[in-house]
Amino acid sequence: LIAGWNSGQTLRAKEILYRCMEDLEATKAALYLRPGGGSFELVTSYGFGRGEELAATITDDHPLVTWVRGRGASVGWLNDAEEAGGLGRYLAGSGSQRLLTIPLTADGLLVGFIDARDKARKIAYGSPDVAAAEAIGHALEELLRAEGMCGLEPRPSRGVRPTRAEGLVDHPLDRSVVESLMATLAPLAGVPGIAALALAVGDAATARTVLLGGAALDRKQRDAVARHQVDQLAAARVPRPSAKQWTWAERGGGGGEVRCETIHTMVLHEGPPAWVVASVLAPAGSTAWSAVLTAAAQQVRAARALRDYRLAARNLARILLEPGETSYPHLRQHSQAVSELSQRLAAALALSAEDEELVTLAAYLHDVGMRELEYSRIYRMTAPGDRERRLYQRHSTVGARIVESAAYPGDLAGAIRHHHERWDGTGYPARLAGRSIPRASRIIHLTEVYDTLTSRSSYRPPMSRETALAAIRAEAGAQFDPELVPVFEKLVGA
Ligand SMILES: [Fe+2]
Ligand SMILES: [Fe+2]
Repeated sequence: LIAGWNSGQTLRAKEILYRCMEDLEATKAALYLRPGGGSFELVTSYGFGRGEELAATITDDHPLVTWVRGRGASVGWLNDAEEAGGLGRYLAGSGSQRLLTIPLTADGLLVGFIDARDKARKIAYGSPDVAAAEAIGHALEELLRAEGMCGLEPRPSRGVRPTRAEGLVDHPLDRSVVESLMATLAPLAGVPGIAALALAVGDAATARTVLLGGAALDRKQRDAVARHQVDQLAAARVPRPSAKQWTWAERGGGGGEVRCETIHTMVLHEGPPAWVVASVLAPAGSTAWSAVLTAAAQQVRAARALRDYRLAARNLARILLEPGETSYPHLRQHSQAVSELSQRLAAALALSAEDEELVTLAAYLHDVGMRELEYSRIYRMTAPGDRERRLYQRHSTVGARIVESAAYPGDLAGAIRHHHERWDGTGYPARLAGRSIPRASRIIHLTEVYDTLTSRSSYRPPMSRETALAAIRAEAGAQFDPELVPVFEKLVGA
């Protein structure tokens, strides 16, 4: 933990770093800051295993710092550690081939940087990654500014414009907060004493207000709400755009009280990356607004706590995989790729937030049973015998047993246990068929086969996306859930 940071600040830095995994598909990432102007301190990291080299403190003469400085204020990357001299030797200490760095600067001085490593599926870093990397850098800079860290001043009105502002607002962790808030508030928009309810979400550069039912507001009323929200954010020193840049996503459908004589606004979540503000329009003399805003604040606290627990569960999952990596070296890359594909498939299927989370976590852990097995022997075999195959097949039941005792909400263990069942009932371990296979297992089975086909393995070269999709299409209704196949094809084919 960096000196002077509380756990909330560290958690927010961690969330931003986590986007390196999601947006850049990095398998490892570390954040370094220079709080006092001396050496760079490791603040937090993801994905580095025990025994892998990751410096806790690095000074100006370290090859990594020389590399970052050499790129100035730009995102830098390299895809072949062997050609990189001293830096290459440092990267090799954690088994890394590829590096992407995001500098953090203030007044032209380097105050820190992100060190992101190997992409999943051995994909090279390149210019398509720059926009996402810069957005992560800006989000981190906003956090440092908001906290007045590393000599960065809070900058309330003229924030650096994030290159992907929409992406910030739509960050899944904050999306879950906003969605649960909307579900809580919408029914309250029409109660007596409330004219309308307006929920706004934004960051330093964008703001969007959703009118949650109640009276339809005219232009003047909407401007008044935006101004009120800007004022409240300013009072809380939250970076936000001017009232003119406020956009309205939805108009209320009428009904409820019609007199909007007073506006009451509360900042519910200060971000970063996103802030959330609620406004209640009410007739003069009504006191219902206060109960509504209190309920909203309570809901945000609960949703953030849930979000923190989900993040913690994902972190625990990473730790749980570590012992298996020695015997199955591609475990983490495979797990991360399968988890990411499964999450996207779950989102495309419009599963609930809970189910999407369960699928994502189960996909990450689907092969955790490998950590208990002598897998390295079988892994290198080109023609495993019956005995080896049976041993290998135990990994799904072993994995289910490992997570069973965690009592995670939903059937996490079941999702893992059945990830090798086939739609036609000839899979293992239970020979379940069709819809009796848990949906999460059907999703994972499909995405894991795709990842395995398109990845390099010990006994055959990787298949192209088209060939892998054709192979999967040919098995729709036999090996795979026929309803999932076209959705998945659209997802990865696009
Ligand atoms: Fe797998
Ligand atoms: Fe598996």
